[in-house]
Amino acid sequence: MAFVITVAQQKGGAGKTMLAANLAVAFAGSARVALLDIDPQRSLSRWHGLRKPGAVALHLSEVSGWRLAAELDRLRASHDVVLIDSPPQIDTDARLAIRGADLVIVPVQPSLPDLWAAEGTLKLAVAERRLARIVLNRAPASGKLRERVMAEIRREDHAMFATVMGNRVGLATAFADGSSILETSPKSAAAQEIMALLAEIEALRG
Ligand SMILES: Nc1ncnc2c1ncn2[C@@H]1O[C@H](COP(=O)(O)OP(=O)(O)OP(=O)(O)O)[C@@H](O)[C@H]1O
Ligand SMILES: [Mg+2]
Repeated sequence: MAFVITVAQQKGGAGKTMLAANLAVAFAGSARVALLDIDPQRSLSRWHGLRKPGAVALHLSEVSGWRLAAELDRLRASHDVVLIDSPPQIDTDARLAIRGADLVIVPVQPSLPDLWAAEGTLKLAVAERRLARIVLNRAPASGKLRERVMAEIRREDHAMFATVMGNRVGLATAFADGSSILETSPKSAAAQEIMALLAEIEALRG
């Protein structure tokens, strides 16, 4: 049975698709990975369509509505890890994806409105008794805003990954190529952050 990870956050542009793509390639080093794109924007599917022949193979399914639950069951049975990329809203499909997840990853950029937008997703994960973790994304290495947002996350008692993703242009460049940072710049800081996140997820998976 696969470990199902749903990347969710109502705020657009938080880094959901970037994380799903990069974590998929990271997991694919040692697991059968399936991607499930439930976002009508289809960014993850389009990234998948840009992947080069010979790049590590990732299964991708694109479904919505009444087909979603059955497709998730099918992928769960045939893969080790399923990564679901969700739209920037909590619609019926996103609810189902959170309900079906073993872990919900919520990317948050270092701004209070981004954190506030995440609260709906985090509440839903709690209501569904799902494990959920914020990952701070596009964060500067230091600074007042980063500290302010981190303090607010602690004050609200939200669980957060220790790994913080910096603002790394290489992630966007790799994405535009249908690649992961692990494939384009495996020694970069961004690749190290993805691998650190992977290790934290593996530890949660037990
Ligand atoms: N850590 C980062 N460093 C640099 N660029 C980033 C980072 N994370 C995301 N980006 C870039 O920010 C943009 C938005 O990211 P992405 O598409 O993953 O967000 P999203 O949450 O999936 O958006 P949407 O809600 O529209 O689906 C993309 O161009 C992506 O490459
Ligand atoms: Mg997206």
